[in-house]
Amino acid sequence: MRGVALLGATGSIGDSTLSVLELHPDRYRLEVVAARRNVPRMLEICRQFRPPLAVLTEPAAAAELRAALGAGQATRVLDGHQVLEQVVRAAEVDVVVAGIVGAAGLASSLAAAQAGKTLLLANKEALVMAGALFMDAVRQGGATLIPIDSETNAMFQCLPGYRCGEPAAERGVRRLLLTASGGPFLRTPVADMARATPDQACAHPRWVMGRKISVDSATLMNKGLEVIESAWLFGLPGNAIEVVVHPQSVVHSLVEYCDGSLLAQLASPDMRVPIAHALAWPERQASGATALNLFDVARLDFEPPDRAHFPCLDLAYRALGTGGTACAILNAANEIAVQAFLEGQLAFGSIAEVVGASLDALPAVPAENLETVLAADAAARRIATSQVQSRC
Ligand SMILES: NC(=O)c1ccc[n+]([C@@H]2O[C@H](COP(=O)([O-])OP(=O)(O)OC[C@H]3O[C@@H](n4cnc5c(N)ncnc54)[C@H](OP(=O)(O)O)[C@@H]3O)[C@@H](O)[C@H]2O)c1
Repeated sequence: MRGVALLGATGSIGDSTLSVLELHPDRYRLEVVAARRNVPRMLEICRQFRPPLAVLTEPAAAAELRAALGAGQATRVLDGHQVLEQVVRAAEVDVVVAGIVGAAGLASSLAAAQAGKTLLLANKEALVMAGALFMDAVRQGGATLIPIDSETNAMFQCLPGYRCGEPAAERGVRRLLLTASGGPFLRTPVADMARATPDQACAHPRWVMGRKISVDSATLMNKGLEVIESAWLFGLPGNAIEVVVHPQSVVHSLVEYCDGSLLAQLASPDMRVPIAHALAWPERQASGATALNLFDVARLDFEPPDRAHFPCLDLAYRALGTGGTACAILNAANEIAVQAFLEGQLAFGSIAEVVGASLDALPAVPAENLETVLAADAAARRIATSQVQSRC
């Protein structure tokens, strides 16, 4: 039995993880569940799974959950953000599923890496912000890092015996081909896309996900963040990572080897596949997903991304090439711009402008320690906020 801490339990990754855990009650014990403030969903999870510990980072929400659970319950409820860094280090926790969205997931993911846990990483923003520090923490802590983003998990599956952080080139890897569905606006004219509403942007053709990553998928910033994530996970430069638009979303990514072989991972677009794989690694176990029927898929299309239509992609390559705190600036500015868009304060077409203007305004510096990264994050949030206000 392996003890699991599920961070972001009330979200989309949380749902998919709980669905896999339900299939294997003999293999996993849910030790900790954590989220921000979603009391109704957390209450359901606590009643069904009876974990010893639940964390809601917002104290008022935690108090409400405590009251709703009542006295004599199996689950103790804690609050506050810093407590996340402590609970992931607990001896009962073997596996940490990092499913918090955005920069809010950085500290707990880093703590799990430092504590040498098996870390199933969905929270790509943590790696984007602080890639070098994160990978150092993995190496020094002796953690096992397995990506559960479907694309980076696919690449990991195409690299048998590989440990994240090793230079993949030493395994004969020439390039990574990162597939993108193209999102809801793949064929939408730029002028129409610029006026898109949050609901249109969140209506992803293939995946059901949280709203922030759905908007990132619509701008292709999600693909840009995955380029940066892949560079850190597999130790490769940006020019060895190519984005390939593949509208069917069944080839989840490919690895090209120096002998000309291309290995791909295919599956139904269902997050339970990478999560079940990472939980069982290096073994395999059922995920609950429907197996892919190739006769139904019938054809696979691939095309290059239209970089003028989706400028966020080039912004991500630019930040990766600049290095230092540039990716933290990119990530923070994007979080502010996406939030403003979801709240109706910014046009969809201005998300890339806000991110680009923030990168222009803030010089990147070497990301020497966490304080430097957090300072860049805070400065980028201030600049991006004023960029949003100037466009209101
Ligand atoms: N969804 C997918 O299919 C998918 C695929 C690949 C990668 N990812 C990555 O996985 C992460 C989660 O995505 P998602 O789609 O699952 O997002 P989501 O549905 O919006 O869920 C976000 C989760 O994070 C929690 N959270 C947000 N802010 C927090 C804070 N300050 N402190 C503690 N918890 C906080 C939320 O709690 P409350 O509900 O209480 O607010 C919720 O449990 C993202 O980094 C995303 O890029 C997702």
